[in-house]
Order: sequence, then structure tokens, then C-alpha cells
Amino acid sequence: MQTLGIDIGGSGIKGALVDVEKGEMATKRHRIATPQPSTPEAVAAVVNDIVRHFDYQGPVGVTFPAIVAHGVTKTAANVDKLWIDAPAQTIFTEATGQPVYVLNDADAAGVAEMTFGAGRDLASGIVILLTFGTGIGSAIFHDRKLLPNTEFGHVPMPMKGLIAEHYCSDRIRKEEDLKWGPWGTRVDHYLALMELLFSPDVFIIGGGVSKKFNKFAPKFRRNAEVVVAQLLNEAGIVGAAMYAYEQMK
Ligand code: BGC
Repeated sequence: MQTLGIDIGGSGIKGALVDVEKGEMATKRHRIATPQPSTPEAVAAVVNDIVRHFDYQGPVGVTFPAIVAHGVTKTAANVDKLWIDAPAQTIFTEATGQPVYVLNDADAAGVAEMTFGAGRDLASGIVILLTFGTGIGSAIFHDRKLLPNTEFGHVPMPMKGLIAEHYCSDRIRKEEDLKWGPWGTRVDHYLALMELLFSPDVFIIGGGVSKKFNKFAPKFRRNAEVVVAQLLNEAGIVGAAMYAYEQMK
């Protein structure tokens, strides 16, 4: 069964058809730059372009970098503020003429990793997936069940006077021109806070930085096991498609 998954990020909107039984992309990724300003109208037009590109009819899963409750986007940290309280699911459904299902981007990545990637063999316990990109996304699982919309990227870092994603997102690494080592030390401070709060068994590190894992992972001093995401930048697309497929069942 092939389902369309679309991953909306602060800089790019990417889609592909996904084989939801295998957890793999069945086509090449189609990427369009996120319009600036990223208003609901402009983003919906791009989502529709991606649906048309694949000449697709059927359920569409869409990730969004915000709290998504019952298809409504509640926050807008790295996108246009018009998304606060926007009925995203209805907006995309009307723009595309297809049934669209919207969920948080890190929750989608987490579900994909737990099913097909780094978490597939973890039968029980607490797992925290963190994605490092423009912001920091989070997904926490207890005995494989997701608690959605956790927003751990917005926790304040003690003594730093900053929220986590303003301290150690990949955007901050680039803006401050940090080498992988010093950036890894910052991430380790953040993981220490997460460990204090949640005592996870495993952290999964995702987002674009995952391909450089070996460069910063030596800085980690955690009790929990820290592993790298396996689906790399495809996790959002795969998780989005899985979500839409589940909703249609
Ligand atoms: C948003 C989250 C999102 C994360 C990663 C944060 O700024 O608040 O909802 O998951 O960025 O995109």
C-alpha cells in the first residue's frame, strides 16, 4: 500500500509516496522551499503542488513543526504566526481535495523510528527521540506508546537563560559556527536535563545532524543509551504516511 507523506519544515516542504508496510519511500523525494512568509495560504498551495506532482489521490499524511491538537495547529515557533489556532487539517484537505491528516513532525519521526528504525527492537521502557534542525522536536514513548505534542525543545536550560532550541538546535550550531565537539557538549547538557526529568532508557538522535553522529556523540556522558536515528531525513515523511494510513483503516 502506497500513501503520500509530506513533511513541512521551516526551510523545505518534502513529499514522497511511502510503502507503509515496509516503512520505505517508494519514490524520490520532491522538495519545494518553504514559502516566506509561511502563511497558511502559501503553505497549503505548496502541499497541493506536491499532491499534484505525484498525481495522487487518497489519504495524505502531513507533518507540521508545531503542537497539533485534533488537526488544529496551536503554536508557531518557526513558521508564520497565522498558524496559531489554524485548522490545518481542514485547510490542507480543502486545498488538495484529498483527506489530509496532520500531526507534529517529531511525533511522526518518532513513530517511524520506533516501527522501522532505531527503536524497532525496543520492546518496553522509556524512549525519547529528539530531532535537531531549525528547532528541536521531541517524541516520548512508554512501552512503545507515544505521548504526543511534548515540545521538549522549549524547556528552559537551567543557568543558561535560554530554551533548549535556542541553545543547541542545529540552527544555533550553524549561526554560532560551533564545531561538532562543542555543540555535542551543549547537546549533552540538554540530554542531562531530559535524563533528570524522565529517566529514559534510550535517546534516539534524529534530524539532519544524524549523519554526523560520530562527530558529536563522543561528548555524551549519559546513563541512558544514546543511539542515532536510522531513517535520517526520511522519518517525517514515512511517519506522516503511516499516520494517514492508520486513520483510514
Ligand atoms: C516546535 C515543535 C517541532 C520542533 C521541530 C519546535 O520549535 O515547537 O513543534 O516539533 O520545533 O520542528
